[in-house]
Amino acid sequence: MTSANIRPASDYPPGGDAFRHRHLIGIAQLTPWEISYVLDAAEQWVDLNRAGAAKHDDQLAGLTIINAFFENSTRTLLSFEIAGKRLGADVVNMHAAQSSVKKGETLIDTAMTLNAMRADAMVIRHGSSGAVQLIADKVDCPVLNAGDGRHEHPTQALLDALTIRRRKGKVEGLTVAICGDVLHSRVARSNILALTLLGNEVRVVAPPTLTPPAMERMHVTTFTDMDEGIRDADVVMMLRLQNERMDGAYLPSAREYHALYGLTPKRLEKAKPDAIVMHPGPMNRGVEIDSIVADDPVRSTITEQVEMGVAVRMACLDILTRRKRGVAGWN
Ligand code: CP
Repeated sequence: MTSANIRPASDYPPGGDAFRHRHLIGIAQLTPWEISYVLDAAEQWVDLNRAGAAKHDDQLAGLTIINAFFENSTRTLLSFEIAGKRLGADVVNMHAAQSSVKKGETLIDTAMTLNAMRADAMVIRHGSSGAVQLIADKVDCPVLNAGDGRHEHPTQALLDALTIRRRKGKVEGLTVAICGDVLHSRVARSNILALTLLGNEVRVVAPPTLTPPAMERMHVTTFTDMDEGIRDADVVMMLRLQNERMDGAYLPSAREYHALYGLTPKRLEKAKPDAIVMHPGPMNRGVEIDSIVADDPVRSTITEQVEMGVAVRMACLDILTRRKRGVAGWN
């Protein structure tokens, strides 16, 4: 981090200097104040979304946003669609399974095809790490990463940070335990980057086979014992066991995994009494998390995370299209 990047997260520069990126590829590119800027921008949409108006603003009227999803999604796809529509944009969804990708069209040819349709922003999910950057390098509009392989899922980390900030009153100086299948998780990677950048203590809790190498370089502490890893944590963030990304035997059985790493009410007693429980979804109930914990109306933030997803994605679409819309100060 250069000295120009050392600035309190709450103190961001004016106009376009507050968020200087053309694309949103990963948290790794962001400064603390840029994260804070997105969270503050998202706050305004939370209340308006709760007020229930179908459309809040026409600031993206006349813009076309393409959601191109080469991997399945419920939360990210729908919340980007709702976010764009609430801001007045025309939103088009491209599902790879029903597209010419199935006929063998390459990723770049697909991207160039979407670009020729003059999209004003593209939201991309892809199974390969780096695929979204590849597309961003080829097209003329802002590109937002909706999850690429094991690499990053930046809007998930931003919505998680907003959820934590609203629940805890701050998103700094907290102890956050990120637990489970860290190896295959872009959510974990983006959250580790965001939460360490904002000044939290981040712990990674996983079996050795699901712990990525060289975690110390990401400024986290690793634990293989779940009870130790969540002890006195303010936030327990559970991850889905990503069976579809496992090509070998990472675990003896789901049953044994639950016994050692599943979040049960008893195990949660190790965390702080007011610790919140997070999960990005979709969940494997009874594997990484018990239903009684996931559905706890006080401690679980799982549905709130989904709600914050719409607000954060509204903020991201608004901010990334400001240059194109000629918003004052955003050249
Ligand atoms: N959290 C998340 O990315 O969920 P989806 O796969 O449903 O979008």
